[in-house]
Order: sequence, then C-alpha cells, then structure tokens
Amino acid sequence: MNGMNGTSDTQGKKIGDVILDVSNISLRFGGVKALTDISFNVREHEIRSIIGPNGAGKSSMLNCINGVYVPQEGRITFRGQTFGHMNRRQVAEMGLARTFQNLALFKGMSVIDNIMTGRNMKMRSNLFLQALRWGPAEREECAHREHVEHIIDFLEIQAFRKTPVGRLPYGLQKRVDLGRALAMEPKVLLLDEPMAGMNVEEKQDMCRFILDVNEEFGTTIVLIEHDMGVVMDISDRVVVLDYGKKIGDGTPDEVRGNEDVIRAYLGTSH
Ligand SMILES: Nc1ncnc2c1ncn2[C@@H]1O[C@H](COP(=O)(O)OP(=O)(O)OP(=O)(O)O)[C@@H](O)[C@H]1O
Ligand SMILES: [Mg+2]
Repeated sequence: MNGMNGTSDTQGKKIGDVILDVSNISLRFGGVKALTDISFNVREHEIRSIIGPNGAGKSSMLNCINGVYVPQEGRITFRGQTFGHMNRRQVAEMGLARTFQNLALFKGMSVIDNIMTGRNMKMRSNLFLQALRWGPAEREECAHREHVEHIIDFLEIQAFRKTPVGRLPYGLQKRVDLGRALAMEPKVLLLDEPMAGMNVEEKQDMCRFILDVNEEFGTTIVLIEHDMGVVMDISDRVVVLDYGKKIGDGTPDEVRGNEDVIRAYLGTSH
C-alpha cells in the first residue's frame, strides 16, 4: 500500500519553505463547530494531504483557505501575506486554485471553453474589448488559447476538446476540472477529492497527473482524499481531522502509527 511513501526526500524532490500557514482556525455554523483551533503548514513543492472521516471539516478547511468561508478565529498566511479573510479573486491572483468535491463545470460548454474560464482571472483587457475581439484583446486571447491547448495535451484530452463537458464520463470531467484549475497557473493547488467516484483505472490516471503537476510544474498540492492507498502513496505529509479537530500530523508512516488516527479513522470502514 505504500510503495513510494516516505521516500520523496530521498527521490531528490526539493521541499522548500513554508508557503501556506494555517494558524488557530476556528469555524462555526450556528451551533456546529466545523473547525476548532486548526494549525498546520504546507511547504513549497510538497504534496500535503488532509484526511478524516465524513464531516470532519476537510472541505471547510479548504473553503477557509481560498476565501469561501470566513473563519471566526485564526489567521492564514499565504506567500508571506497574512489574512483573516480574503476574497476569492484576491486569493486566486496570489496563486491559489482549487478543484471542487462536487464538480463546478459548465456542462453545456466544451472542454476547451471550460478550461478557458480558468484563464479569465489572468485576462487584462476589459470585457468590452474582449467582446469585440479587437486589437490587444484578440492577441491576448490567442496567447491564452495556446496555454489552454498545452494543458489539454498535458492531460491527454485532445480528442474531447470540442465536446460538451456534460457528455464526458465522470472521470474525464474531473480531469477537465483539474485543467480549469491548472489554467490559473497556481503556486498552490487545492484538490477536494479529485478521485471520488472513479474506477481503479481512472484513479491511477488522476494520480499520475497529480504527481506530474507536482514534479513538472513544481506546484504545491493540498489534497483531500478518502482512498488511503493513494494518500499514503503520494503524500509527503498528512494532516488528520476528526470532528473538526486535528488529531494527527506527520509523514504517512507517522500518521499510520498514531493511535488516535487508527481509532478515529483507519479502523473505520472508510
Ligand atoms: N455551509 C455550511 N453550513 C452549515 N454547516 C456546514 C456548512 N459546510 C459544512 N458544514 C458542516 O461542517 C462540518 C464539516 O463539513 P465538511 O464538508 O467540511 O466535512 P468534510 O470533512 O469535507 O466531509 P466529507 O468527507 O463528507 O466531504 C459538517 O458537520 C457539515 O455539516
Ligand atoms: Mg468534503
């Protein structure tokens, strides 16, 4: 189950300084404590996983990081800038992109147009010029389309470029969602269950793409995933949440040996 685990340092992968620091985050929805005093950090170039049973607070954590939820307490420092709350656009401009647990694609739009939506954040020309496809806007759009074509090649979805996303099998839709996030050229990529609902082959493909993004683009990855085999295989470090609290943090081996984790998570039928 852990073929590559724990070997990332010896593979010559360079883990850098802390790029994202989560400090004492608490988040409540009325009486529900979704997160209680959560702290952890993410280092540049690492694959950092967040695991835990259903309802543990994993998605809420990502939503705090990318500005969807506003935590009542705590601070998040990203690339040296500390914020209690930032709006989603600011976070994206600073180099953070995410995929969603429930796909957030435009089903009627083609693969290429969906991935283009990830570039919108980077387009400088105003919408009026874009609408006219005039002058600088047209040149800019060409450059963006070229970048999107690279992503399509990288993800091996050339055959479906013009296909409406809603017609693709689920596994490929997840891949397009990854492409949309990659189009933002993120420094840190947040992935919320990118392999959920996939068959074994689709999971293997997704796993390979995540590793390739990490290695080839040097992108730091924060991954929420229920498949323990995958998590233990590809993660450099793992955070474990249970009922909104952090109960474990360390290398896959450390987490696997943690009594609290075994009791709360690994012992269940997840
Ligand atoms: N928008 C919201 N309003 C109210 N409660 C919420 C909201 N979002 C999350 N919660 C609650 O916060 C807790 C944590 O939910 P969250 O979705 O973060 O868990 P999770 O670890 O991602 O679970 P799963 O593995 O099922 O995706 C749950 O009790 C959930 O019901
Ligand atoms: Mg979730």
